[in-house]
Amino acid sequence: MSAIRYPLPESIDPQRLPQHIAVIMDGNGRWAKKNKLKVALGHRAGTENLREIIRNCSDIGVKALTLYAFSTENWNRSKTEVDALMQLILDFFHSEIDELDEKNVRILILGDKDGLPEPQRQALAQAEHRTADNTGLSLNIAVNYGGRAELVRAAQLLAQEVRDGRRTVESIDEQALADKLYTCGLPEVDLLIRTSGEMRLSNFLLYQCSYAEFVFPPELWPDFHVPQLHACIKEFQRRSRRYGARDE
Ligand code: IPE
Ligand code: IPE
Ligand code: MG
Repeated sequence: MSAIRYPLPESIDPQRLPQHIAVIMDGNGRWAKKNKLKVALGHRAGTENLREIIRNCSDIGVKALTLYAFSTENWNRSKTEVDALMQLILDFFHSEIDELDEKNVRILILGDKDGLPEPQRQALAQAEHRTADNTGLSLNIAVNYGGRAELVRAAQLLAQEVRDGRRTVESIDEQALADKLYTCGLPEVDLLIRTSGEMRLSNFLLYQCSYAEFVFPPELWPDFHVPQLHACIKEFQRRSRRYGARDE
């Protein structure tokens, strides 16, 4: 990795960093259009900033970074675009896995790997397996991920346990459900960033974002770099998180 290192600006309090940042990396298509390029090149440009963003999160001590790479609804795009996205996912893992492992990053895939083409399924499973014991940043990549599908899966897993006599209906509480999500064991999402100015969740982390702070920077994803990430963290630190209670 040859990315420039950015220290944390003084205006950010290192004691109050979001533990878990989730990012909807949106705007690659508009970036391509703006630059009169094919959409696939927009997606490629949208992988070039990933390295610096991941590295910075790891350097400043964020515990978990979750990136929305491909939704269950993105299969509705043209075959050409889906193929390009699938190829980029493969390229990303091939080119970054050594460095990520070296940086003690643990990779977790959120979503249905079995619904992916075999080379992608294998590369993702291998990356998870190889980094499973790493103790640094948890890098969670949502691929073939949908928040509703994740909740349905959790309900099915719990129902199976009840059917098999391994738990009672009464034992199902918020923690039991959270433990059946792909994000099991990760801290709650503190900061949700969606680039490109769109303001919706698009089926991302529906359960996990209950008390997340949402920030919607205007930059298209390929134009989003570490200074923009720091601006989002600064905005997060300006928010008052009340969790339904009243500020003193
Ligand atoms: C986000 O960029 C990347 C994926 C959905 C994989 P888009 O391709 O959605 O970009 P826009 O929204 O068309 O600009
Ligand atoms: C969400 O963006 C999915 C990813 C960024 C991977 P989309 O661009 O697919 O979402 P919509 O269609 O605008 O809601
Ligand atoms: Mg989009």
